[in-house]
Amino acid sequence: MAENIALRPALPADAPALAALFRLSVETLGVEDYSEAQVEAWSALAEDEAEFAKKLAGALTIVATLGGAIAGFAALKGADALYMLYVHPHFARRGVASALCDAMEKLAAARQAKKLTVDASDGAEGFFARRGYAPQKRNMTFVGDEVLGNTTMTKDLPAMTGPTQ
Ligand SMILES: CC(C)(COP(=O)(O)OP(=O)(O)OC[C@H]1O[C@@H](n2cnc3c(N)ncnc32)[C@H](O)[C@@H]1OP(=O)(O)O)[C@@H](O)C(=O)NCCC(=O)NCCS
Repeated sequence: MAENIALRPALPADAPALAALFRLSVETLGVEDYSEAQVEAWSALAEDEAEFAKKLAGALTIVATLGGAIAGFAALKGADALYMLYVHPHFARRGVASALCDAMEKLAAARQAKKLTVDASDGAEGFFARRGYAPQKRNMTFVGDEVLGNTTMTKDLPAMTGPTQ
């Protein structure tokens, strides 16, 4: 069970911390499934903090904290795309991504999405499969000069019902 994980909306002032977390997460947790060059290209996506801040602001971004420290974040694009999900390595395997994903699924359902879609990294595929996401297709995506594989996965969401009278 998750230990005192709190969730809150991301603020513009969080952008530098979230960019640093993104890079650390990729550089630490991504190494098992991708080459050094691939990890470097992936991590570089958060190199330009202003650009990264724009990406966060263009989505519904939620921050998870544990003991007051930022432990991870997730972003929902539109109604049905889980755009980012990154956990600080120090807080890995403590239920942070699960708490963030629970919230993303509820927010997507509240936006009337019938399913939630994610392009899951190879390291995250097991996490999503355990939550009921089914693989749809394999992608090879250019990130800088590198090609990284990921898998589009989807999960059907329960219909959101309004309050009854
Ligand atoms: C994938 C990631 C988000 C998981 O975050 P997390 O907070 O450690 O995940 P949780 O603690 O909520 O994991 C819940 C369960 O999912 C499964 N799981 C989590 N990480 C897993 C992994 N790397 N491999 C297989 N199963 C995994 C486990 O069953 C785990 O339960 P357990 O710890 O009791 O065995 C994190 O490793 C990460 O940030 N990775 C790097 C960035 C990335 O790939 N993001 C996804 C982009 S789509």
